[in-house]
Amino acid sequence: MNTIKPSEFTTQFAADVFEGLTSHPKSLSSKYFYDKKGDEIFQEIMHLPEYYLTGKEFDILQENKSALAEAFASPSGFDLIELGAGDGKKTKILLKHFTEKKLDFTFVPVDISHNVLQQLASDLQKEIPELKVTPRQGMYKKVLEQLAEYQTRKKVILFLGSNIGNLPQEEALNFLKKISSSMAQDDLFFMGVDQKKNPETILAAYNDTQGVTAEFNRNLLRRINRELGANFDPDAFIHWPFYDPETGMAKSYLVSKKEQTVQINSLNLEVHFAAWESIHTEISQKYDDTSISWLAREAGLSVSESFSDTENCFKNYIFKKL
Ligand SMILES: C[S@@+](CC[C@H](N)C(=O)[O-])C[C@H]1O[C@@H](n2cnc3c(N)ncnc32)[C@H](O)[C@@H]1O
Repeated sequence: MNTIKPSEFTTQFAADVFEGLTSHPKSLSSKYFYDKKGDEIFQEIMHLPEYYLTGKEFDILQENKSALAEAFASPSGFDLIELGAGDGKKTKILLKHFTEKKLDFTFVPVDISHNVLQQLASDLQKEIPELKVTPRQGMYKKVLEQLAEYQTRKKVILFLGSNIGNLPQEEALNFLKKISSSMAQDDLFFMGVDQKKNPETILAAYNDTQGVTAEFNRNLLRRINRELGANFDPDAFIHWPFYDPETGMAKSYLVSKKEQTVQINSLNLEVHFAAWESIHTEISQKYDDTSISWLAREAGLSVSESFSDTENCFKNYIFKKL
């Protein structure tokens, strides 16, 4: 019998795991994929042949870096704030180009993962020593509330890698509304968005043949074992991604292969799974121009420019305040 009240949990992770695994149906938030091990596995995912998102966005940034320098530059300089910066592999294209062009700017990478931020700051120090970097560790929600502080000069907010797709549609809209309300009239929001396409291509991106994405998904259970003293057997769960071309939603689950009970010591909790019961772990929503324009309008933004690869597989949009 559980005796801990959710308000007594010492970390947000503990509270969210408790809430997700005592709900029906069960769920865990994808933001918890990214512990040290998860960061490493995600970097492997970005190099998989099936995970086209990174390569496509990389090419778009490479191809359009001069146009972006022109759009972002401002006589009094600007703050380049990246939400969910990760390893910054793609952003470095812009950081190097802007530095070569002697643009006056400060880079503010934001990420929930302390580990990934430290790594990024140290890489940037080596690769672009003249770059001004001010890392901020935290969740989008919290950082978005603080964004209004950055009002002394133009700010350009980056949100790459189709991270917007990890938010359910209502949260995505609220997220964009918060971005919009933190923006002054000259500020810009630059977002990378994976597009609706052949369902086979999308599904393969979340179901690679080497099983790396499956391990990324199962690492969430390993993280609960490590951090909350649980005894999940990750191999007793299958990774189950699927894509619905009607809604554009890709979803991933962990599905229990058998009836089982898991102990989570720090939560003083026993979690029972029926055979084939699922835990929903990730949403990767795919968009098109119509749905992006609608979201933008609802949030008080408008698309001022967009850039895509030759097959319209992936798009990067610049938004202005309406
Ligand atoms: C899918 S990776 C993308 C990284 C990078 N933007 C790219 O395009 O390659 C998502 C990144 O966002 C971070 N992240 C996920 N959810 C977050 C949240 N709620 N608040 C802050 N960072 C978050 C993760 O730690 C991870 O580094």
